[in-house]
Amino acid sequence: MADDGVRGEASAQQEKEKEKENGANRSSQETETESSKNGDNAAENQTLSKRQQKKLLKQQKWEEERELRKQKRKERKQQRRLQRHNHQEEQGGEAQHVRKRPRREVTPSSLRLVVDCSFDSLMLTKDVQKLHKQIQRCYAENRRALHPVQVYLTSLGGQLKQSMDEKDKGWVNWKDISIKTEHYSEVVAKEELVYLTSDSPNVLEELDHKKAYVIGGLVDHNHHKGITFERAKELGIHHAQLPLSSFVKMNSRKVLAVNHVFEIILAYLEKGSWQEAFFTVLPQRKGAVAVDQEKEEEESDSDPGP
Ligand SMILES: C[S@@+](CC[C@H](N)C(=O)[O-])C[C@H]1O[C@@H](n2cnc3c(N)ncnc32)[C@H](O)[C@@H]1O
Repeated sequence: MADDGVRGEASAQQEKEKEKENGANRSSQETETESSKNGDNAAENQTLSKRQQKKLLKQQKWEEERELRKQKRKERKQQRRLQRHNHQEEQGGEAQHVRKRPRREVTPSSLRLVVDCSFDSLMLTKDVQKLHKQIQRCYAENRRALHPVQVYLTSLGGQLKQSMDEKDKGWVNWKDISIKTEHYSEVVAKEELVYLTSDSPNVLEELDHKKAYVIGGLVDHNHHKGITFERAKELGIHHAQLPLSSFVKMNSRKVLAVNHVFEIILAYLEKGSWQEAFFTVLPQRKGAVAVDQEKEEEESDSDPGP
């Protein structure tokens, strides 16, 4: 047994020495690989031109400083945020308040506006496309109006429907609008209808919220003068023109486009003044001048002065 013990101690000693030897070999191998690596790099660097070496160094430096740059950016951002915050506090929170849109209380109107699309066959394709755009405009304006009206499109079909199907498929999802293939006289009771037409001798003074006002869906460059007036008379319904001449002097005809008539009604509902409504909506090129203003100008023209 004792022998075994001695033999055991001797072999343990031998094992330790072996391990030491292996360790030494391993580390000498590792340093060899390291040095061969460095050697490779050095060789690589030697094969690079001076310019390339410079570029490489610059690139390495750029990579090393990436974190630092990130940190600096973060600091700058924080500083800007702090400055903005301090500025807003100085202004008593006003800046923030100004940026917010004032909330407008939308109250739908019971007034009905009908676009009569029964003149489709009288229009050229390019004019149908213009009418299509005017109707899109009416829809969009009504959607953002303070007092949106009840909109009807009647007698929809033919070229106009084709244009809508081809160019604006989304119309089938339009909200708050009644789109009908029927004529307006089949949709609204006759006594409630008022055809808006510039040829009517009646001048509209106020809007009656129980009525449905009809706009002729027509772009005709005056080729069908008086057509809507004739149709209204044939049907025996009320008709009226907008009170344009009482409030504005225009350098062009009193015949307006569908969307202008539509928008004037919306503006009148909002402002309660025809004059304001006309001036908000009518384009400058129509040369609209307030009737009062024109009178004043005439007086000052004839004034001989001191
Ligand atoms: C371009 S106009 C069509 C003109 C067409 N020759 C006619 O006889 O009505 C489009 C529509 O806008 C309306 N409109 C245009 N100007 C108007 C005005 N001054 N007063 C009332 N309605 C008007 C009419 O309903 C008209 O049919």
